[in-house]
Amino acid sequence: MTPISPISRQDAAMLLPTDSVKFVQTFRQSSPYFNAHRDSTVVIYLDGAALLNGDAALPLIQDLALLQSLDVRIVLVAGARPFIDAELAAQGFECQYHQGLRITRKEHLPAIAQAVGQMRVEIESWFSSGQAKQSYAVRPLFVSSGNWVMAKPLGIIDGIDFQHTGTVRRIETDPIQAVLNMGHIVLLTSQAYSITGDIFNLSSIDLAVEAAIALQADKLLWLTDPEHLVAARAALPTELSANDMPTLLAQAELPDSTRALLNASLKAAREVDRVHLLDRTLDGALLLELFTRDGVGIMINQNDYDVVRQASIDDIGGILSLLEPLENSGALVKRPREQLEMEIDHFSVLERDGAIIGCAALYPYPQNNSAELAAFAIDDAYRRGGRGAKLLTYIERRAKQQGIESLFLLTTQTMHWFIRHGFVQTDISNLPQARAQLYNFQRRSAVFSKVLGSA
Ligand SMILES: CC(C)(COP(=O)(O)OP(=O)(O)OC[C@H]1O[C@@H](n2cnc3c(N)ncnc32)[C@H](O)[C@@H]1OP(=O)(O)O)[C@@H](O)C(=O)NCCC(=O)NCCS
Repeated sequence: MTPISPISRQDAAMLLPTDSVKFVQTFRQSSPYFNAHRDSTVVIYLDGAALLNGDAALPLIQDLALLQSLDVRIVLVAGARPFIDAELAAQGFECQYHQGLRITRKEHLPAIAQAVGQMRVEIESWFSSGQAKQSYAVRPLFVSSGNWVMAKPLGIIDGIDFQHTGTVRRIETDPIQAVLNMGHIVLLTSQAYSITGDIFNLSSIDLAVEAAIALQADKLLWLTDPEHLVAARAALPTELSANDMPTLLAQAELPDSTRALLNASLKAAREVDRVHLLDRTLDGALLLELFTRDGVGIMINQNDYDVVRQASIDDIGGILSLLEPLENSGALVKRPREQLEMEIDHFSVLERDGAIIGCAALYPYPQNNSAELAAFAIDDAYRRGGRGAKLLTYIERRAKQQGIESLFLLTTQTMHWFIRHGFVQTDISNLPQARAQLYNFQRRSAVFSKVLGSA
């Protein structure tokens, strides 16, 4: 009988259904985010329309329960506008608005209290239901709210008295933090109180911004109307920094309500690390945004998201996986791990959310005041976004700081890219002698050089 040879790991993987392979890959890619989000404070604004229909809200509530079970500290700001609109209309009130804000009259307050109360009861009942807890119920799922938001009147704007429409005066963060420490989800709604005991109706968008700032949240996530996402995607990049945003907003054509939301996002992004706009109708939007590298929404960073820095020994795994496909295709010369370990100080990397998506090496030839630029690569998935140019700028600055006057490089496939960035073709005889001796005549790389300006 022929002996049965053991099946290799690779063959075993081939036998798995595609879904299982994808699951394992996805799970592995998501794992860094489990740690990154643990104990982080996340303010999540939920557009009231998402709460009108219990069946539609349930997956969202389940995702929030899952996040809470992963030790994410959640502050939920629920927009009550559709509930308030319906209640005021049912009681025969017609409302006036100015600059997108309701003018809240004293006689509206009981109807507003009723509407907000109804919404709160529904949210609490969803979090209490067995369906919300599902299998994530590692501990009870509590939602807490309280008189933690102090309000003041919005006052008179453009000659219009907003009466009981208010703004945030102060947020009492200590009791909120205490409740978060107990593992509860904090629920904030648009009703708040002044020191005179008056009740004010706040914009829940402003409330979410103020809460995220006061609590020094790590993130603010807007689960909002898909129309805002469509409008913003048409006019802006899907990832932007708070620094670039004023210019981009000034040039963009946007509906007033989307512009208002983006202005609120900008205000938050000046203080909060990341602000994300998400389509509330997309199933799993929260999880996709928080646990995948590129997310599904629009992200505004307090700082630039991609960071270029000097490489360290911990980056070797990332650099190897970045370079391997390019080495296999012949675009770059092979570098064994041992060589990389010895030369790591020559490398710079472009890091995005903990992943290495670009790298470059600089090998100085001090006698010639020049240096070789090598292993210059951007991950395939991130090309054409100006990252190559950004990495080159960094390398050139680093070279100048080391007193290097010119760069040279050898390339077989990327001549035109370097020409666009000021390199000119030159001859092998112009290479430093030590490097010319190593020239691989089979590879027949073209040689390019660039004189660097003064530092
Ligand atoms: C070259 C490389 C680093 C550019 O990275 P990048 O992040 O896409 O660069 P940028 O976004 O700054 O520039 C993109 C532009 O360069 C162009 N470009 C990219 N590769 C090019 C090439 N080989 N030749 C000519 N132009 C190229 C793109 O078409 C794009 O042009 P566009 O702006 O008109 O659309 C990247 O393509 C890469 O990693 N290539 C493989 C590795 C390699 O060949 N390295 C050089 C050997 S040392």
